[in-house]
Amino acid sequence: MAVGLDDVVAAETVLSHVDGQAGRLVLRGFELEELAGRRSYEDVLALLWDGFVAIDGLPAALGQARAAAFAILEPRLGALDGLSAIEAVRAGLALLPDAATVPHHLLATAMTAVTAAAAARRAAGEAAVAPDPVLGHAADFLRMLHGRAAPAAHVRALDTYLVTIADHGLNASTFAARVVASTRAGLLSAVVAGVCALKGPLHGGAPGPVLDMLDEIGPPENVEPWLAAALDRGDRLMGFGHRVYRVRDPRADVLKRVVMELRGEANRIRFAEQVEATAIRLLAQRKQGRGLDTNVEFYTALLLEALALPRTLFTPIFAVGRVGGWAAHVLEQEESRRIIRPQSAYVGPEPRQAA
Ligand code: ACO
Repeated sequence: MAVGLDDVVAAETVLSHVDGQAGRLVLRGFELEELAGRRSYEDVLALLWDGFVAIDGLPAALGQARAAAFAILEPRLGALDGLSAIEAVRAGLALLPDAATVPHHLLATAMTAVTAAAAARRAAGEAAVAPDPVLGHAADFLRMLHGRAAPAAHVRALDTYLVTIADHGLNASTFAARVVASTRAGLLSAVVAGVCALKGPLHGGAPGPVLDMLDEIGPPENVEPWLAAALDRGDRLMGFGHRVYRVRDPRADVLKRVVMELRGEANRIRFAEQVEATAIRLLAQRKQGRGLDTNVEFYTALLLEALALPRTLFTPIFAVGRVGGWAAHVLEQEESRRIIRPQSAYVGPEPRQAA
């Protein structure tokens, strides 16, 4: 019995393939490296959604959907106060009515970005900024967040990040979204389920703790003793390990390149590389044969830090990109007529007489 559903195939998909032995990610027939840094997030949404919904004029339609999402959110912004940024994204998506006339895949994608930016601004005591429907999704997200146009290098870096994490096979949050979709509850409910699954520290909640770890380690001479002590305690090292990859996560290398292009201070990168190499060596010693290596979250953390984004926004920004993949999987799942309904193995007591 596979308690964590290891190796269980629960869906057929045309969307993405994670080759865990070779360290490859294929999105609709394209290697990740063909897309990241070369195609915009909107291009990749069109690639993922093609055949399920109309994709003509997608950038403009997504811009208009951001405006529609903001119109729904603005009167209710007070409801986000006191929530963490990822709780705010969950709440923002939950506000969307099933009766909304804007196509739900666009509306959900738009609302995730609009709410993440608005929640961060309100947490900093600043007013939410309305979207500019003419801009690209990454550029407008940074503008809504900072209240001014972002440098082109930052827009490019965020766009590459959104492409890199847009879809990734049947990961936990995508599976959660597909389960909800299989009950015919609708795309908006399914993406709320995706956010709920993403927010856990074993999935999309890891990058903030990656930076916490780098901070706690302190000077370079502490790297090995700190990591060894953490492993001795049975802690998990954030940003390492993966259910499917037995080699390095290809997304880590794509993001590392972006970080290196973006960052001025080589010291931070050198330190991160030292932590990375030591962690991989210690994990190999202690978990022999398991193939634990760097996952996407390690360099996600360094990239989002280089963009001067607050740690509380790291998981919401993951959702800003991944929502496009959830929507694609929901659209694909909705073509299937079968509810996802696995079995459990009963290990409780045999039937007995009630007292
Ligand atoms: N640090 C220390 N030990 C680890 C780590 C880690 N990062 N990852 C796995 N292990 C250990 C497990 O505890 C297990 O030990 P055991 O055999 O003594 O029980 C052994 O290695 C094998 O674990 P796996 O079967 O490879 O792990 P699993 O597939 O269950 O979990 C997961 C995968 C959740 C990603 C895990 O590696 C982890 O917790 N990593 C840290 C959190 C993280 O970075 N999450 C982001 C993942 S990427 C993403 O979701 C976008």
